[in-house]
Amino acid sequence: MAKILILVGTESGNAQMVADALKPVLEAAGHGVDVSDKAASSADLLAHEVLLIVCATHGSGDIPTNILPLAETLERERPDLRGHRYGIIALGDLTYQDTFCGGGKKMDKVFALCGASRMGHRLEVDASSQPLPDEEALSWIEGWKALV
Ligand SMILES: Cc1cc2nc3c(=O)[nH]c(=O)nc-3n(C[C@H](O)[C@H](O)[C@H](O)COP(=O)(O)O)c2cc1C
Repeated sequence: MAKILILVGTESGNAQMVADALKPVLEAAGHGVDVSDKAASSADLLAHEVLLIVCATHGSGDIPTNILPLAETLERERPDLRGHRYGIIALGDLTYQDTFCGGGKKMDKVFALCGASRMGHRLEVDASSQPLPDEEALSWIEGWKALV
């Protein structure tokens, strides 16, 4: 069973709501799950072989401020995360056509840059058509947890 760290990038709470809904599902599958909405340290990342990034988009395709320092550190220092696997849930709003889910897309790139391997497809949740992001995430996690 895996040690999973759910990293939450949020400004107004939707991504946190998704993380809170997914944690018990992964625990029921036998995994150890920690949730962080702070800029996780390299030690936090290294202590968990599986990462699940749940990241909203703000500004104009930007990563939320609570998780931006982590993204910047990873991009700058490029720690070796080749032993790590990750999943991405990107939250956005299709009203922002050009920057849809930009925050989650950027986080996806940063982890790939560090050598981590993505499991499954990136879930992109559109707030303009899905007012309850946790419902879509709960359905997606059924496939993802089978890959862990
Ligand atoms: C000021 C503001 C800017 C936003 N900019 C974007 C954007 O550029 N692209 C996008 O896909 N969604 C954008 N969104 C939509 C949010 O990502 C979406 O509502 C998300 O569910 C918010 O999650 P959170 O509550 O965890 O912060 C924006 C929302 C706000 C309020």
